[in-house]
Amino acid sequence: MITKAHLQRLGREHGTPLFVVDHDALRKKYREFRKHLPRVQAYFAVKANPLPEIVRTLFLEGASFDVASMPEFNIVYGNIQDMPPKQRQDWIWDKIIYANPNKPDDTLEELNQYKPLVTFDNAEELQKIRDHAPQAGVVLRLKVPNTGAMVELSSKFGAAPGEAVDLILQAEKLGLTCEGLSFHVGSQTTNFENYVQALALCANLLKEARDRGYHKMNLLDIGGGFPAPYDDSVKPFRELARIINRELERLFPKDIQILAEPGRFLVATAGYTVSKVIGKAVRDGKPSYYINDGVYHTYSGVIFDHCKYPVRSFKKGPARISAVYGPTCDALDVVSMAENLPELNRDDLVYSENIGAYSHASSTHFNGFPPAKVVHVNT
Ligand SMILES: Cc1ncc(COP(=O)(O)O)c(C=O)c1O
Repeated sequence: MITKAHLQRLGREHGTPLFVVDHDALRKKYREFRKHLPRVQAYFAVKANPLPEIVRTLFLEGASFDVASMPEFNIVYGNIQDMPPKQRQDWIWDKIIYANPNKPDDTLEELNQYKPLVTFDNAEELQKIRDHAPQAGVVLRLKVPNTGAMVELSSKFGAAPGEAVDLILQAEKLGLTCEGLSFHVGSQTTNFENYVQALALCANLLKEARDRGYHKMNLLDIGGGFPAPYDDSVKPFRELARIINRELERLFPKDIQILAEPGRFLVATAGYTVSKVIGKAVRDGKPSYYINDGVYHTYSGVIFDHCKYPVRSFKKGPARISAVYGPTCDALDVVSMAENLPELNRDDLVYSENIGAYSHASSTHFNGFPPAKVVHVNT
């Protein structure tokens, strides 16, 4: 946990905008995940924050990885490149899943040498895998309810339950082995019923596949979606874990391998941003502050992730509802229209917590402003 004073010191020392990663927080969340879901192997979804230092810390903790592009694969690979070839190959098979259901031909060709697990959700993709990565193992991604998730994914991904077993048998016909099933309940899922329904669907489909003569599936990937504690309305992780454990116990045999792809849950609380007031005005009677970080940069999650990150002041004073704008010339660059802030002056620092996921990862260079400088603490 980084204190307010420490954060302020870092901002003064390194300059702003600054993105701070607390590696103790990463380790804490990884251990919490493992403690409450002991049957589940945790594959960190690198897309949530692909900084190599974050991947390294989780690698040293024993994490596995969900990658969704060749550059993400290579960040993980950097940690194992010096292993003896056989050990490296076993590690890749056991600890990496390429979980983007749509892969370009050249990515598949590059992946083939590593014989990884990859996901698919349609017949066209199966044919592509057969043609360009025949050594890969495949996992079928299912469409499941994403009700109430902050970021819904099921409109774009997942095979319909009615076509699932046909696709599995189709994979076999093409000489591929379908190792199991996967799903994603939507990111920042606070409706835990989504997991219950998805697990029931998987149990039914495993049975249907066996009834139709397919016995090679031994893997269940329960995806991401585990919520970060952005506010008090998010129920504790142990409650979700209790529900998942109960359903896993009830519906699946002991020897099935269970994995998950937590992204946000592992990195959200490890990230902080510190920025500086570069201008101020009164707009429509409201105090309005222009800071040197915004929605094209670390606050990009406001747009892409539908997330809010309260902007806080280091100094105290009577608070007023204020607007906070980013530094670019675009009127979309609004961090918040309603923050409770004391009167701020130019050069005052402000900060946000719980901004480690889908934030710095989607920062751009728009308008000539580079992404925030990164500082790692407690490495
Ligand atoms: C396939 C897949 N797995 C895992 C994740 C990580 O999800 P979360 O950050 O909600 O845990 C995502 C996020 O988009 C995803 O698309």
